[in-house]
Amino acid sequence: MAQVLHDSLRKKGVGGFDKSEENLMKQLYIDNLPKHIALIMDGNGRWAQKRKMPRNVGHKYGAEALKKIVMFCNEINIQILSVYAFSTENWRRPKTEVDMLMKLLIEYLQREIDLLNRNNIRLEVSGDMEYLPVEVRSAVQKGKEVSKFNTGLILNVALNYGGRDEIARAARQIAEKVKNGEYNIQEIDKTLMEKHLYTSSLGDPELLIRTSGERRLSNFLLWQLAYTELFFTDILWPDFDRIHLLEALCSYQKRERRFGGI
Ligand code: FPP
Repeated sequence: MAQVLHDSLRKKGVGGFDKSEENLMKQLYIDNLPKHIALIMDGNGRWAQKRKMPRNVGHKYGAEALKKIVMFCNEINIQILSVYAFSTENWRRPKTEVDMLMKLLIEYLQREIDLLNRNNIRLEVSGDMEYLPVEVRSAVQKGKEVSKFNTGLILNVALNYGGRDEIARAARQIAEKVKNGEYNIQEIDKTLMEKHLYTSSLGDPELLIRTSGERRLSNFLLWQLAYTELFFTDILWPDFDRIHLLEALCSYQKRERRFGGI
């Protein structure tokens, strides 16, 4: 009989859950949890506006919500969590908001890296680092370096990331290699494309969660999400907690994944 998440956590001595969390954990089989979860953390701005606060406050609370979800994913042995922190389209926001998001990212990476490290979590980044402020790049570099031998959850932060850009970049790199004689045209297939994506070592997510009621992919992991189960919730990101994650996991486990078969 497959083990349920509740029993497995109890065995490990992990506790501190309330009744409704426990009830959900009793319904979840550990051998059928997604290995890789993708997360579109949407609704920070609306969360703040509903409270008559500046949008930036929503991003701050959003960063706190992320911290708790990262820790929980690590506890329940999710292997990879890919989060959409800043898209190639987010540069269109007012400069003050972009600057604040960059500042928040630097602070988050500097402040939380010890916590990530203590919990055996490895930091990875997907996206075009070239045009990011130098302080963001060095915080990312340092975070990756100090956590590179960790074997727990991989936190993959998508930064200045766009799915279409990623696919075009892979095509450019392969074209260059064909030109140099490293590959011939017949060798171009999906495996070769995958090798040239930012996520080449991470594989595809089995589950994507998007908060705030929007039902779009917004240029996130376009190649990787081809067969991913999608879960949309009206909860605004700063309110997203363990219960909501457990609900998404329960929904995932009820689905039958056929990958185009019958
Ligand atoms: C979308 O909400 C959220 C973002 C563009 C940024 C996500 C950033 C965080 C959760 C904070 C920090 C992240 C890290 C990795 C430290 P929105 O602003 O589009 O909200 P709205 O749709 O209500 O306007």
